[in-house]
Amino acid sequence: MTNNTKRRIALKNATLVNEGRIWKAHILISGNLIESITLDPPSLEDYPEQYDFSGKYIFPGMIDDQVHFREPGLTHKADIETESRACLMGGITTYFEMPNTLPPAITIDELEKKYTLASQKSFANYSFYLGASNDNIEEIKQVDPQKICGVKVFMGSSTGNLLVDDPASLDALFKYSPVLIAAHCEDEMTVKTNEREYRSKFGDTIGFEKHAEIRSVDACYLSSSRAVALAKKYQSRLHILHISTEKELELFDQTTPLSEKKITAEACVHHLFFSDKDYERLGWKIKWNPSIKSESDRLALIQGLKDNKIDVIATDHAPHTLPEKDQILWNAPSGGPLVQHALLALLELHHNGHFTLPEIVQKTSHAPAALFRVEQRGYLREGYFADLVVVDLNANTYVNKDTIAYKCGWSPFEGMRFSSQIVGTFVNGHPAYINGSVEPVKYGERVTFDR
Ligand code: DOR
Repeated sequence: MTNNTKRRIALKNATLVNEGRIWKAHILISGNLIESITLDPPSLEDYPEQYDFSGKYIFPGMIDDQVHFREPGLTHKADIETESRACLMGGITTYFEMPNTLPPAITIDELEKKYTLASQKSFANYSFYLGASNDNIEEIKQVDPQKICGVKVFMGSSTGNLLVDDPASLDALFKYSPVLIAAHCEDEMTVKTNEREYRSKFGDTIGFEKHAEIRSVDACYLSSSRAVALAKKYQSRLHILHISTEKELELFDQTTPLSEKKITAEACVHHLFFSDKDYERLGWKIKWNPSIKSESDRLALIQGLKDNKIDVIATDHAPHTLPEKDQILWNAPSGGPLVQHALLALLELHHNGHFTLPEIVQKTSHAPAALFRVEQRGYLREGYFADLVVVDLNANTYVNKDTIAYKCGWSPFEGMRFSSQIVGTFVNGHPAYINGSVEPVKYGERVTFDR
């Protein structure tokens, strides 16, 4: 995005939430950047485009470090255009996308093709992970850490066939990766053994709540501890994705400042919002890998975030079509769409007394920016990109088929009324989503990293 036109916009009278503070001010935008944050009222002459956000809150836009947008190859489920548009409607201004596409993004060539697609199709800012396989360590070694968010390794299999199960390949990955390793941790052997046992015991009448026992606490713990041991052995930069159990929390350090941590952790919105109590009501709609576990795990994850054992909150947005999902446990793929409703769900946890607003902003914006060393994003700061979200905590949002923006057309939150509303989303200085509509212009840019 060039600054030739230098659009000058004033966002007036909002309550800002940033870096632990909550205060009223005006944000002045020039071109793509926040020019200043001020208490002086802006003149119409200097800022011809003005929005009065009295009574509304402004946060830095959410940086979602784990999404699956299915392009290329699986675009019957979702694509970059539809899902990045849904991001804006949910207040997500930047996303990092996963490599289990078709073909999988396991070579730098395939990865760059995804960047080219996004440069034409993405409404939000983006980065893409390179996938690890059992035999692509030479590709991984060539990665430029300033240009991609990280390498993704499936240490347990999930959607797609990117499992890295060869111990020598895992060793090489942790030894040589020049960039952060983002790991999906579920022990394959434990899951397979449980699957066999539950298939013979319950057959096709098995309930979805059994998913939590098959993809068990032990499966998560075993695999996460293995990843942590490897990272310690090789001093690698490890980020464990979607922590789902209380037991895994003991693997993480809460005393080291985030910028110095070598091992970090992510929690996902569905593990914070749902628990095994919801399987009976929602069934396939909340079948994820790792599985959604007990209510006490859910509450422990929330506390783990507050205690800084877990560093960031993401979505693991992983859409599948309705006919694919609406099947018996053994046939329904894992994953569901979330980006449009993730921030609203977290704000619900604020309304319920679980998170303060600064905690939400820390875990969805500042922490992912710091953890990945994203350049000039993730904070309301002068000179930073004007990526921000405007929310109303006193208006509500009803989720139904008519308002769902995902290509797959369903949501685990359908029928629910959130007690907040996303009023607007600014991307690189532009009101990309405002008054209930997404601007047709695509303002998304490739994110860069200061590493
Ligand atoms: O539930 C999941 N679905 N977990 C993953 O790790 C992958 C994702 C998908 O791509 O469908």
